[in-house]
Amino acid sequence: MANKNRPTGRRLAERLQNMTSFKVVDFLEAAVAMEAQGIDIVRMEAGEPSFPTAPAITSAAVKALADEKTNYTPSFGIMALREAIAGFYAQRYGIELMPERIVVTTGSSAALGLICDLLINPGDGIQLTDPGYPCNANFVRRAGGEPQLIPVSADNAYQLTADLVAQHWQPNTIGVMVASPSNPTGEVISQDNQRAINDIVVARDGVLIMDEIYHGLVYGPGSGLSYGLEGRNQTETSILSISDDAFVINSFSKYFGMTGWRLGWMVVPEDTLPSISVMTQNFYISPPSIAQYAALGAFEPSTIELMDERREEFRRRRDFFVPALRELGFVIPHMPAGAFYVYASIENLADDSEAFCWDMLERAGVAFTPGTDFGHYLARQHVRFSYTQPMDRLELAVERLSKVLST
Ligand SMILES: Cc1ncc(COP(=O)(O)O)c(C=O)c1O
Repeated sequence: MANKNRPTGRRLAERLQNMTSFKVVDFLEAAVAMEAQGIDIVRMEAGEPSFPTAPAITSAAVKALADEKTNYTPSFGIMALREAIAGFYAQRYGIELMPERIVVTTGSSAALGLICDLLINPGDGIQLTDPGYPCNANFVRRAGGEPQLIPVSADNAYQLTADLVAQHWQPNTIGVMVASPSNPTGEVISQDNQRAINDIVVARDGVLIMDEIYHGLVYGPGSGLSYGLEGRNQTETSILSISDDAFVINSFSKYFGMTGWRLGWMVVPEDTLPSISVMTQNFYISPPSIAQYAALGAFEPSTIELMDERREEFRRRRDFFVPALRELGFVIPHMPAGAFYVYASIENLADDSEAFCWDMLERAGVAFTPGTDFGHYLARQHVRFSYTQPMDRLELAVERLSKVLST
């Protein structure tokens, strides 16, 4: 059977037909290819902190290697790490969690897949924001479900509200997936809003999946900048302080800056653990061993101190970059409160975000991602910048964009 994913006609599973590519990777690969030709590119396409792994994490990894901790571990992860994560919830949020409810995974990507596979029957719908993290819709599709995209805009701080959830609830909807702070918009959902959404979901016998992967990276209002929209939240609260029934996703990738170590976790309702264990044992056997021992170093006070300093550096980068983009003609209605992304409208600069991003990569040597990676709603009118690069590189990006945009 012909398959659009393989024009050669090789027989492949039909489920791939509806999956979309992760465009950020297309831009990443193009940027890498240009760099290989000696062209300097300011890399703002990927969501990756620019800092090296924290020393305490690296030394924990080196020690684990020396101690030959290279075997499979229990499929939910080593207990020392699950306990350390539980300790982190107690310290950061004042939430007491049984370590047994914490499942360590191969990046939070594995957690997203496991949760979808756990909950979704063919034809079930999951509500997602549009724009949102592009892989989520594909995890839903992989499980046979239907991503139900709800358009969100600057008017509602790019987040769902209880009204939107209720309004878009379909007979086949079984739940809602929310990320706060969000990718690509950096917007944070308030605790009141979380509670209201949870109430609506519970009343419909549905499930709430909260992606808290950008927790630890919330900055609050920018200095001296217009900051509209009443009631926007500037602090982070975990859904676990509201509900023990929600599924929570988190990761060592972002706040702890461990993207390539491929380690994340989820906190799940206790009764789902036996079913999840069937999947983790079969699909993964265990999360990566060295990465788990390394991650123990993430909870050392020296690492937390360093990560909090890095957060302040991200805040400085945001406070420089957002006004600079506005000066260049990008429209950013309010300062993004967290993560390390700016979702900017190009309505005054161009009419097609994909063409614009390719053009800026080629002519300005700045890589960033078209809105079409994150959904459909006003996607051709938006682009996402990831401001994880050092300040001098951000300044260079602004200089280069300014030059190209003024010609
Ligand atoms: C919102 C969101 N969730 C999950 C992930 C997956 O990250 P990882 O698998 O590195 O934990 C990402 C990565 O960018 C993300 O932005």
